[in-house]
Amino acid sequence: MAKDDGKGGSWKESIWNSRTKEFLGRTASSWGLIILFYVAFYIFLAGVFILTMYVMLQLLDDNKPKYQDRLGIPGMMIRPKHGPNGFLEIDYMMEDTETWDMYVQALDQFLSPYNDTEQAKKNYECTPDKYFFQSDSGSVRNYPKRSCQFNRSILGECSGLTDRSYGFGDGQPCVIIKLNRVVGMLPGGKDGEAPFVTCAPRRYKVVTEEEAEEGEEDKMGQVMFFPPNGTYNLMYYPYYGKKAQVNYSQPLVAIKFLNVTTNTDINVECKITAGGFQIKGDEKDKFAGKVIFRLRVNTRN
Ligand SMILES: *[C@@H]1O[C@H](CO)[C@@H](O)[C@H](O)[C@H]1NC(C)=O
Ligand SMILES: *[C@@H]1O[C@H](CO)[C@@H](O)[C@H](O)[C@H]1NC(C)=O
Ligand SMILES: *[C@@H]1O[C@H](CO)[C@@H](O)[C@H](O)[C@H]1NC(C)=O
Ligand SMILES: *[C@@H]1O[C@H](CO)[C@@H](O)[C@H](O)[C@H]1NC(C)=O
Ligand SMILES: *[C@@H]1O[C@H](CO)[C@@H](O)[C@H](O)[C@H]1NC(C)=O
Repeated sequence: MAKDDGKGGSWKESIWNSRTKEFLGRTASSWGLIILFYVAFYIFLAGVFILTMYVMLQLLDDNKPKYQDRLGIPGMMIRPKHGPNGFLEIDYMMEDTETWDMYVQALDQFLSPYNDTEQAKKNYECTPDKYFFQSDSGSVRNYPKRSCQFNRSILGECSGLTDRSYGFGDGQPCVIIKLNRVVGMLPGGKDGEAPFVTCAPRRYKVVTEEEAEEGEEDKMGQVMFFPPNGTYNLMYYPYYGKKAQVNYSQPLVAIKFLNVTTNTDINVECKITAGGFQIKGDEKDKFAGKVIFRLRVNTRN
C-alpha cells in the first residue's frame, strides 16, 4: 500500500511538482522561454516563406513565361498527325474513302478556327512582311495585344474550301506544317527574311547525287506550297504569349504532294529555314526545326 502511494505520488509529481513548482519537469519561466522561442521561430519561418513568395511573384510576369528552353529552335509538327498505325504517318488507299476520311476530318477540325469570317471577326488585318511589334511602354501595358488574321483561304487547294478532300482522293494529299509557338521569337532574324519550309525525302544512308536524283527524289515527286514558297509571314511574330494574345492564330504552311509514287513508303523530312540559315536541329530533340513523317499512298491500279 505504501509503495503504491509512493508510486502514485511520484507519477502525479512528474506532472505537477508542488514543491519545486515544476510542470512536466519545467518551471513556468522555463516553459515561457520555450514557448517564446517557438513562437519567434515560426514567425521567422513564415517571414522567410512570405518573402520568398513575394520575390518569386515579382519575377513572374503574367504575360510572359520567364524561363523557356531552346529559344530560337521552334518545334515543328504536322497535321494530320495520326495514321492508322501510329504517330506522324499518312498511309491510305486512294480508292477507299474510309481509309482517308479521318485525315479529312482532322484537317477540317484543325482549320475551322481559321475560317475567313471567323478570322475577320477576331483578328486584325496586319501589314504583311514585317514584324508586328506591340511593345509595352514602361509600366503601361499594351494589353490585350492584337493578333493577325490567318485566313484559311490562303492555303488554296489545301484549304479544304475548293477541294473538300484536301487532295486525298486524287492521290495528291495535303499536309499542314506548323511551327510551335515560342514567345518572343523573331524567326526572320535581323534582316527580316520570312522563314520558310522545305521538304525532301529523308535518306538514311549516304548516296551519291546521281543515285539520289533517280531514287528518292522522284518518289516524293513535285510538291507545291501554300502560301507560295512555304513561308510564314513575319507579321505573325513576335508572339506575346497565350494571355497577352488571346486570339493568336498560328501561321500555317501547307504542302501538296503532286506526283507521289504510289504503293511505296516515303520518309519526308521538312525543315525550317529561318533568319537566313537552316536550323541544324538538336539531336536530343527530334522535332526541333524539323519534322519527319512517313507518307504512303496506296492504289489498286
Ligand atoms: C468553317 O467553314 C466551313 C466551310 O465553309 C464550315 O463547314 C464550318 O462549319 C466552319 N466552321 C466554323 C467554326 O465556323
Ligand atoms: C480574310 O478574310 C476576310 C473575310 O473574307 C477578309 O475581310 C480579310 O481581308 C481577309 N484577310 C486577309 C489577311 O487576307
Ligand atoms: C478576340 O476575339 C473576340 C471575338 O471572338 C473579340 O471580341 C476580341 O476583341 C478579340 N480580342 C483581341 C485582343 O483582338
Ligand atoms: C518565292 O521565291 C522566289 C525565289 O526566291 C521569289 O522570286 C518569289 O518572289 C517568291 N514568291 C513569293 C510569293 O514570295
Ligand atoms: C511523276 O513521276 C514519275 C516518276 O515517278 C515521272 O515519270 C512523271 O514524269 C512525273 N509526272 C509529272 C507530271 O511530273
